[in-house]
Amino acid sequence: MNARLTIDIEGLQGRIDKLATISEQPAPVVTRVLFSEADLRARALVRGWFGEAGLSFRQDAVGNLFARWEGQDLALPAVATGSHIDAIPNAGRYDGVVGVLGALEAIRALKRCGFRPVRSIELIVFTAEEPTRFGIGCLGSRLLAGSMPLERAAALRDGDGRTLHDLRSAAGLGAEDMDRVRLPRNSYAGFVELHIEQGPLLEGEGVPIGVVEKIAAPSTLRLQLTGVGGHAGAMLMAERHDALLAGGEIALAVEQAALSSGSPDAVGTTGVFRIEPGAVNSVPCRAWLEIDFRDTLLARRDAALARIESAVAEVCRKRGVSFNLERLNADAPALCDAYLVETVLSASAEAGLAARKMISRAYHDTLFMAQVCPVTMIFIPCRGGVSHRPDEYSSPEQIRCGVEVLALSLARLAS
Ligand code: GLV
Ligand code: MN
Ligand code: MN
Repeated sequence: MNARLTIDIEGLQGRIDKLATISEQPAPVVTRVLFSEADLRARALVRGWFGEAGLSFRQDAVGNLFARWEGQDLALPAVATGSHIDAIPNAGRYDGVVGVLGALEAIRALKRCGFRPVRSIELIVFTAEEPTRFGIGCLGSRLLAGSMPLERAAALRDGDGRTLHDLRSAAGLGAEDMDRVRLPRNSYAGFVELHIEQGPLLEGEGVPIGVVEKIAAPSTLRLQLTGVGGHAGAMLMAERHDALLAGGEIALAVEQAALSSGSPDAVGTTGVFRIEPGAVNSVPCRAWLEIDFRDTLLARRDAALARIESAVAEVCRKRGVSFNLERLNADAPALCDAYLVETVLSASAEAGLAARKMISRAYHDTLFMAQVCPVTMIFIPCRGGVSHRPDEYSSPEQIRCGVEVLALSLARLAS
């Protein structure tokens, strides 16, 4: 580097704030569901910024975006960074976005100070890290890693019955070849994702940088319950097969599976619970539940999933409710690469910032990039550990620190 690395935090914060104005709901809420009109506008905006920064651009058939700063040795695998810009309903402006726009600013800062990478540096914006549309998270990175068969991807349907192909086509990607999404071997020498912590540890300890060593193992169940509906006055209690009550017992069993696992890392959530017909004087005849269960140990997570699945069968048998239960995903945890972890730790030291190793309890595209190349993540604090809420917040200075450490890490890895 010819000059001191300086991060243009005002410019970066301006881009974060501008992106946040693109939302399906009024500010301060950010909602950008995969291939919604807001998601498409957000993609166009960041794509323009990539062009302004002089990066070359490609998009694959599932909508993963790749912006590349070419290195001096094109024969070497690139170093990759990036995250996502889709946002769950009622989200804030930092989840994922800090990793995309922060990476863009890291590249711009490296360019400004005269750094010339030997390896190319590639910024990836992953499609649908969030599971909102299809019930399954990390869709883009899952397909990049080849860990979801294309037939499964083709069979995905959203709540309105639209397929991935329908939505890709509407987004102008219908002619692109899904077979080419999976990354060829040795595409990347390493992947580093910058992200807000989404938990309280860094803020609580006053440590500006977390370096991720492991990502907890996530899983998702989708459950449809079919009971018997009827008149809330005329249908006597002895005749009832209430789908909501079966679902309620199952949600409690999910909580119990986490509490009884003996692990503070086991977390179970019934985050979707819809009923039909949804009238006050009508017995619920159908319910749809989506259940998220995670743990840091695969065997313990799988044992909990098995307990939940048998609770579903038992509750439904007892209540005379029929069910359809699908495991949408049951992923392994990811272990980060010791060399990359050390690289980020020493980049933090170079920036004069304290850093600590940590586990990511949230999942990230890094979980799947770990199947493709060595990985780690850089975490920055967020206020109160709050995320997936409109009041999610990291200060400009906290973001600046993360971007500086990312830039220094990329510089080391691309040299
Ligand atoms: C990612 O958004 C997660 O749910 O962990
Ligand atoms: Mn998220
Ligand atoms: Mn995220």
